[in-house]
Amino acid sequence: MTIYIRNFLLGCLIPVMLAMLMFGVPTAFAGETNNTQASLYDRLGGYNAIAAVVNDLFPRLAGDKKLGRFWRHRGSDGIAREKQLLIDFFAAKSGGQMYYRGRTMKLLHTDMKIDEKDWRILITAVNQTLDKFQVPARERKDLLDFIESTKKDIVEQS
Ligand code: HEM
Repeated sequence: MTIYIRNFLLGCLIPVMLAMLMFGVPTAFAGETNNTQASLYDRLGGYNAIAAVVNDLFPRLAGDKKLGRFWRHRGSDGIAREKQLLIDFFAAKSGGQMYYRGRTMKLLHTDMKIDEKDWRILITAVNQTLDKFQVPARERKDLLDFIESTKKDIVEQS
């Protein structure tokens, strides 16, 4: 019996414990609280949550009186493509296992003449969307900080 228990420990439990030490405890075991190591992607709620945020945000941008000029007269397929790329971009950059196949922020926004006021409208819209989904303070800050880090490649005029 003692030999059986020892073999069981060596054969099963120890490798599992080692794997947990190396790769972290699976989320299902860790619970939902205080997981400071989790990626922003996971903390936001993964793909579906990011897709919901983009789907809510997009009409706020396109429907704005000033910002709407960027999406006026664009085909629905082009808009659908852009939304999917936005989801992929945020998912990939926040730590999700996604491949972003779009252009760089600088390349794609160059010559659009996006100004400071456009940017402020965008940030207000992002905050409204985050309010709607009651995104907690830490995740909100991380997401806004990330968006802010792209500003230098997007805003061309003050
Ligand atoms: C006021 C600010 C912004 C405006 C007016 C704007 C406008 C646009 C427009 C018109 C497109 C479509 C371009 C095309 O189809 O050729 C686009 C694409 C995109 N934008 Fe922005 N954008 C803004 C800010 C941002 C920010 C803050 C991000 C991300 C942090 C972002 C990420 C993207 C992505 C991922 C795409 C699709 C990429 C691709 O087509 O290759 N944009 N944006």
